[in-house]
Amino acid sequence: MPETASVSHVESARDTALAELAAAGTAEQTEAWRIAWLGRRGQLTQVLRGIRDLSPDERRSVGAAANQVKNILEQSLAQHQHAIASSKSEAEDRADAIDVTLPGWPAPIGGLHPTTQMLREICDAFGSMGFDVVEGPEVEWDRYNFEMLNIPRGHAARDMWATLWVDEPDEDGDYPMLMRTQTSPMQIRTMQERKPPIRVIVPGKCYRYEATDATHEWHFYQVEGLAVDRGITFADLKGTLYEFARRIFGEERQVRFRCDYFPFVEPGVDMSISNFKDPETGKRPINRDEDWIEILGAGMVHPKVLEGVGLDPQIYTGFAFGMGPERIAMLKYGIEDIRLFYSNDLRFLSQF
Ligand code: PHE
Repeated sequence: MPETASVSHVESARDTALAELAAAGTAEQTEAWRIAWLGRRGQLTQVLRGIRDLSPDERRSVGAAANQVKNILEQSLAQHQHAIASSKSEAEDRADAIDVTLPGWPAPIGGLHPTTQMLREICDAFGSMGFDVVEGPEVEWDRYNFEMLNIPRGHAARDMWATLWVDEPDEDGDYPMLMRTQTSPMQIRTMQERKPPIRVIVPGKCYRYEATDATHEWHFYQVEGLAVDRGITFADLKGTLYEFARRIFGEERQVRFRCDYFPFVEPGVDMSISNFKDPETGKRPINRDEDWIEILGAGMVHPKVLEGVGLDPQIYTGFAFGMGPERIAMLKYGIEDIRLFYSNDLRFLSQF
């Protein structure tokens, strides 16, 4: 473009400029165009500068045309920049877009924890025999966990339950609160709340200050059972627990009762189930040398316990039992280590 310009020059410059702008496909090319045309040394700027050398008449007409072209180019530039910016984000949008025709990821379906399944199975078995399911606190009073169960302070039998105490001494400096070591305190709470005939089972978490091994955890579940009425005998206890074992383990597995000691029952027994044998190898994964595995303690409710809650032992009798559902699951399914129940390993959990 010559230094001095006519209106027709200005107009043909405008057409060239607009054609070049239309061909600028990227933000970088658009910027190069802006510098070439509208920059300080740009072609249109040069034309505008040349105007001062024109005659007054020409100056007016060329100047007006050039200013108009300048406005057109600036507007076109703004539109072009906007179009490039939005077409870029459209391209990006397309790249990010979800292809609804692709097959989806399978949603992992969770399952119930084997302990939960076992608890439900146990509750169902007793539920169908007329027992109500009730629950109680995990932080318990010494009174309920021990004293009212015929285990006074200083009684040697307290050693049977290594206890986690709550660090809240009373005025005498004694520790009245603990993490329940058993669900048996619910025997007392239930007998205080309900009148015979009583038939309840109590699933719940228990805690013991103990080292763990393949068959012991420091926290675990128990299911307590209690039946109190006139005329309940030891035969009722055996019949109920036989029936329970038959429902959980089937007809083939054997059941054994032996004498055992718990301060809150008299007489006391424990019940064992014949050990799990792998049907293919004939081997026992749990406690290999044992023919029997103990799953519960039980007995006739001690007269002192009945008296303590205001029931006359001459009129009422009852039986109680407490079982370990994790051990029952181990025996049922051949699980080797109780610690697996609390390790949250999906390879283990997803088998149930
Ligand atoms: N609570 C006892 C324990 O934890 C089990 C038990 C319950 C025994 C009820 C007798 C009667 O060992």
